[in-house]
Amino acid sequence: MLKGKKILLGVSGGIAVYKAVALTSKLTQAGAEVKVIMTDHAAEFVTPLTFQAISRNPVYTDTFDEKDPAKIAHIDLADWADLVVLAPATANLLGKLANGIADDMLTTTLLATEADIYVAPAMNVHMYQHPAVIQNMTALAAWGYRFIEPGDGYLACGYVGKGRLEEPEQIVRVLEKDNNRSNKWAGKKVLVTAGPTREPIDPVRYFTNYSSGKMGYALAQKAAEQGAEVYLVSGPTHLTVPPLVEHIPVTTAQEMFAEVTERFAEMDLVIKTAAVADYRPKAVLDQKMKKQKQEWSVEMERNVDILQYLGEHKQQQFLVGFAAETQDIKNYGKDKLERKHLDAIVLNDVSRRDIGFDSDQNEVIFMTKDGTEQAIKQASKLEIAEQVIGLIDDQIRKG
Ligand code: CTP
Repeated sequence: MLKGKKILLGVSGGIAVYKAVALTSKLTQAGAEVKVIMTDHAAEFVTPLTFQAISRNPVYTDTFDEKDPAKIAHIDLADWADLVVLAPATANLLGKLANGIADDMLTTTLLATEADIYVAPAMNVHMYQHPAVIQNMTALAAWGYRFIEPGDGYLACGYVGKGRLEEPEQIVRVLEKDNNRSNKWAGKKVLVTAGPTREPIDPVRYFTNYSSGKMGYALAQKAAEQGAEVYLVSGPTHLTVPPLVEHIPVTTAQEMFAEVTERFAEMDLVIKTAAVADYRPKAVLDQKMKKQKQEWSVEMERNVDILQYLGEHKQQQFLVGFAAETQDIKNYGKDKLERKHLDAIVLNDVSRRDIGFDSDQNEVIFMTKDGTEQAIKQASKLEIAEQVIGLIDDQIRKG
């Protein structure tokens, strides 16, 4: 997800330099091009050759070691970088940056760059809490430096506490998260429902359906990547909540109804992917039902149709429903679109094993209230989500 990004990695001298090697590897694996500048102290811990081999680029340590006479290396690198990561950033490096000192290749390049700078500090816990370090970090943060906080844990100096360089995987995750965001939907509030609901019969049994939640989670992720504030009201799933998405877990349709309607008034867009149970057991037993000789019938009553309710109460919200069908998909879909007063509906053929419920793939038709239809060919649910979000965006812009 960092494909093609030009990342300048600044490595200063602390024991965590060895982790910067793993970070270089993870960044290149994520598709980034990495160039490394090391301070002299960093090179005391790990040789530049190690970083050179992993980044497949020359490593810079000396301002006056001009490798190409046609260029001035520190200005060239400063302009080259899409983003800069300082890991580990020592107390000394933070002090120099906060005071505009440029006395080596790294600090000189940092003064010259206009790229976004991410700082992953690593130091002893007492150094981290020193007022001078705090003041320097506060100043840098106020200038827009983005801090990737050190983790708590065992420190090489023998202390346990805050100061350990954040794990390389986590640093990569932060960069990916930020770099996949656009501002297209900044300021928009989006609510997505996902997953199945569970309707209890007794303390050990429930009715549910095969929904995995994958399509809804993908849509929440893609909406968040447009810069929207995203709320994901989700029935029980095994999925990881996407970054920057607020997760509101629910179990039953009634709980989903309560959480959705509580937030509905302030939303700009609602996408109802959830496979809400249409019925629930009329009585929920307090104790486990013991098996009997005779048959057992469970009387069911209707759950509220959440989407229908939203359609009837909507004002500014753009409302998108999903239709899970096994036959006559377009006609049933069109009927739901009209009956539930939707702006658009996404039609899903759940009779096919290769797409739909638990699959990672999907193939859908996006239908709007003004009669347009767009078939989205079979692709991963994330890719489908991206296209659906794009089509919704077109509709919203049309007004
Ligand atoms: N839906 C809802 N509340 C319900 C049932 C469905 O909000 N109690 C929403 C789903 O989230 C989905 C849409 O309605 O966006 C269509 O769901 P689907 O199960 O396909 O259709 P139903 O309305 O249940 O209609 P039918 O049973 O006739 O297929």
